[in-house]
Amino acid sequence: MTTEIEIKRGLQGVYIDKSRSSFIDGAEGKLLYRGYSIHDLAEQSTFEETAFLLMHAKLPTRKELSDFDGELRANRSVHPGVLEVIRLVKDAHPMDVLRTAISATAAYDPDVEDNSPEATLRKGIRLTAQAPTIVTAHARIKEGKDPVAPNSSLNHAGNFLYMLFDREPTTNETRLMEKDFILHAEHGINASAFAARVTASTIADLHSAIVSGISTLKGPSHGGAAEEVMKMALEIGEEENAEQYTRNILENGGRVMGFGHRVYKVEDPRARHLQAECKLLGEAKGQPKWFSILTKVADVMEPYASRGICPNVDFWAGAMYHLLDIPKELFICIFAMGRVPGWTVQVMEQFSNNILIRPLLLYDGQMDVEYVPIEKRQ
Ligand code: CMC
Repeated sequence: MTTEIEIKRGLQGVYIDKSRSSFIDGAEGKLLYRGYSIHDLAEQSTFEETAFLLMHAKLPTRKELSDFDGELRANRSVHPGVLEVIRLVKDAHPMDVLRTAISATAAYDPDVEDNSPEATLRKGIRLTAQAPTIVTAHARIKEGKDPVAPNSSLNHAGNFLYMLFDREPTTNETRLMEKDFILHAEHGINASAFAARVTASTIADLHSAIVSGISTLKGPSHGGAAEEVMKMALEIGEEENAEQYTRNILENGGRVMGFGHRVYKVEDPRARHLQAECKLLGEAKGQPKWFSILTKVADVMEPYASRGICPNVDFWAGAMYHLLDIPKELFICIFAMGRVPGWTVQVMEQFSNNILIRPLLLYDGQMDVEYVPIEKRQ
């Protein structure tokens, strides 16, 4: 007698553990980090404070925040060996370079094999601080320029823009970047956090887990969508082309990037913040057309809301980065930079109550086949 085996493809709807880092209600469109509303954090917090909240499970006092911020600022530089690696692979996609360079930082990290909570936290802080240095160093090296050294007088977001453009960003540019980093900081057991947890579950180290996370984030079904949305907006070119362009995708069975989500069946609560900023920034920069084009695309997608296909965080992000003059190849890296605290806390949770993550596959192939030596095969 055979028992019926239920296969949950894509682990859809499967809870794999308990977590205290973030809460997502996909039907309500609700997201909390450590119990705090994403809306309050996006509007009132800073990236440093949000990263502290995630990593320490509480909001910091002034002194705690200042110490944490100081640690981030003090850990921004990367070892010259990492810059050498970046030079060697400079022609690759920035996300491949980030993955490779983060892997290389393991060679220089004194705590690399220490999986204690204290060491994992120290490494998480270092990787959070160093990711923008890696991404911007590569962007400069690729253009034949020298990397810009981190500026410890600027906050995390401002320093990223400073190292990228070799100029001090405006207060508004820094605020927008910071908001974006906050919105991307953590998101439950999404594909990249799951990959990071699977790696951690073998009792590998944080660097290995974050390399898994970065690798998994790269695809367009996850972090790659913002780049794809901006490519789409550029291809559309003018507002009047947007409706036909979108209908063509849908009529040909394609997917409109920046729409749909495995968990959210209403609008992704992160999206509205970037939507509002994208509109304001476009107007301020005399380039309202990107917002108008995306609004038209969203209008065509409106009927899909009843099927749970709504704008996600990546729909507006790309246009905002474009308006900040950030090259589109860097868009996924921005997501990754923001997500390092989230991956770190997911790995810490996994370590704190570890179990090897090892599901099963139902074998569906041939059985007990006779082995024929190569000289006798037809
Ligand atoms: N445009 C048109 N149709 C869509 C879309 C879309 N963007 N997304 C899903 N659908 C349709 C899909 O064709 C399928 O239809 P049918 O049932 O007729 O075959 C149905 O909705 C269910 O799709 P699915 O792929 O089974 O659903 P999923 O939960 O596995 O997919 C997703 C989630 C994000 C991969 C998918 O919505 C998608 O490919 N979206 C576009 C890429 C994107 O924006 N990714 C960013 C995700 S948010 C950032 C993050 O947190 O990672």
